[in-house]
Amino acid sequence: MKGKKILVGVTGGIAAYKTPLLIRLLVKAGAEVRVVATDSAFDFVTPLTLSTVAKNPVESEFFDEAGNWNNHVELGLWANLFVIAPATANTIGKMANGLCDNLLLATYLSARCPVAIAPAMDLDMLQHPSVQKNLKTIAEFGNHIIEPTEGELASGLEGKGRMAEPEDIFKFLSNILNA
Ligand SMILES: Cc1cc2nc3c(=O)[nH]c(=O)nc-3n(C[C@H](O)[C@H](O)[C@H](O)COP(=O)(O)O)c2cc1C
Repeated sequence: MKGKKILVGVTGGIAAYKTPLLIRLLVKAGAEVRVVATDSAFDFVTPLTLSTVAKNPVESEFFDEAGNWNNHVELGLWANLFVIAPATANTIGKMANGLCDNLLLATYLSARCPVAIAPAMDLDMLQHPSVQKNLKTIAEFGNHIIEPTEGELASGLEGKGRMAEPEDIFKFLSNILNA
């Protein structure tokens, strides 16, 4: 992990509160971390928390107020590995279908590095045929799916849909880089 450039994508699921823990593990292991987030992600975790643990600003808009654009192509090519954690049903659907209405998705389409996603959602959302189809499509693109785990969900229901724990995502990413 030391010296590796890891791009962390954050989308708007409740599990985003765990993403700073993942970033911290990556930074502690010597990785350089940049973060790209959807607008919705900031309903669940602040840009200040993400940028503080990553030691880099968080990018989320195509361009700033001065009209300077955030170069998603540069961001995608910079990374040795792109991990999206959590990955919402919404973002998974867009990834599977080549949609590009935010900086995270534009970066995904531009990235040449390995991509891993950690889906997190309620059990019925996860089991829905459309989500399962989209996950299969993304896996067929060659992207890695970090399986959600079973347990108590934010809805109060029990089942599969919890984002993998940050330590397990870290191990998964280490294995990709060491492969
Ligand atoms: C309290 C709350 C929790 C949510 N949790 C999830 C979740 O865990 N997974 C998910 O796929 N969507 C979840 N959503 C719905 C997403 O926030 C919504 O689909 C949003 O448009 C996702 O945008 P993004 O994919 O651009 O980040 C939640 C919404 C709310 C209000």
